Amino acid sequence: MKPTVLLTCRIILEAEKKDLEERFNVITLWGHEDPEAFIQEHKEEIQAIVTDHIFPVRKELIENLPNLEIIATDSVGFSHIDIETAKEREIKVTNTPDVLSECTADTALCLMMAVMRRTCEADLFLRVGKWFHGDMPLGRRPRGKLCGIVGLGRIGKEIATRCEAFGMEIAYHGRTKQDVPYRYYPDLQRMAEDCDVMILSCPGGPATANLVDSHILEALGQEGFLINVSRGTVVDEPALIAALQGGVIAGAGLDVYLDEPNVPEELISMDNVVLLPHIGSATVETRTEMGQLVVDNIAAHFEGKPLLTEVKI
Ligand code: NDP
Ligand code: DGY
Repeated sequence: MKPTVLLTCRIILEAEKKDLEERFNVITLWGHEDPEAFIQEHKEEIQAIVTDHIFPVRKELIENLPNLEIIATDSVGFSHIDIETAKEREIKVTNTPDVLSECTADTALCLMMAVMRRTCEADLFLRVGKWFHGDMPLGRRPRGKLCGIVGLGRIGKEIATRCEAFGMEIAYHGRTKQDVPYRYYPDLQRMAEDCDVMILSCPGGPATANLVDSHILEALGQEGFLINVSRGTVVDEPALIAALQGGVIAGAGLDVYLDEPNVPEELISMDNVVLLPHIGSATVETRTEMGQLVVDNIAAHFEGKPLLTEVKI
């Protein structure tokens, strides 16, 4: 009998979903009037969960599934999974590292250029006919600016090489100093004081919750820009709104939010903010590779082979 996989993940592409369906008994969580009752009904048979950053796999869900063996998330971030509970139950967890690093770094650069060069504002300026009445106000150039990266991991390093190509200096903050040719700041406040652009590419979760608060935003200063492609929880969102409204920082480019897909109205109405709907990895090529990794991890597990990308904590 084929193992049963609970699919809660809606970002998986059709071809990879089909591949999964050919190999396993796939039951999807969406389309049911009462998803919780659906899980109750199938709780004995579910051996695997395929999820994504949108669907949290909490303690209660893990504890409710007696035969669960593996959770595969179609994302590199895993702060939506209760790793401790999974570990206690010896349930394997896999994610999708590396294949999405370049795309996510590209997205960070898109946001940085859009907010500094005011390209979204400029596009609207032309479309509504303002060009007939004057010139678009000036933006800021990246060359010569110091970019402070919070979380110089796989994605952070891709961001760094792209920023270097734009003529920027690179600094980074993280828990450990690395063997890289960039300036290390063990103190985030110090880095914020020195840098012109701060890009967040660290994981979410309790350890980084509200890492960027009102003090860090004040330190970044009125000429400073904040870019976030990590998780909404890393930034104190009300403090960010207040900082943008009060001119404490110059602008922000955001791909992630505290309560997605709810984006605060205050952010939506601001000109000095560029907002993307969590599209860091959202290209056909990358989402295909991510989905394939998910399928291959699940297949490896049930074939008794080593997992390709296990989350090891
Ligand atoms: P990595 O694990 O390769 O890098 C994470 C980096 O964050 C490391 O350099 C680590 O350095 C640093 N870090 C970890 N904890 C802390 C902390 N408490 N304070 C400061 N820095 C910390 O992960 P990836 O680069 O692959 O992914 C990073 C994150 O990006 C994901 O977890 C996810 O949340 C987000 N992401 C968002 C996407 C989007 O669509 N917007 C797409 C893909 C990823 P050190 O250990 O030295 O602290
Ligand atoms: C990730 O991989 O963590 C992204 O946020 C989802 O694509």
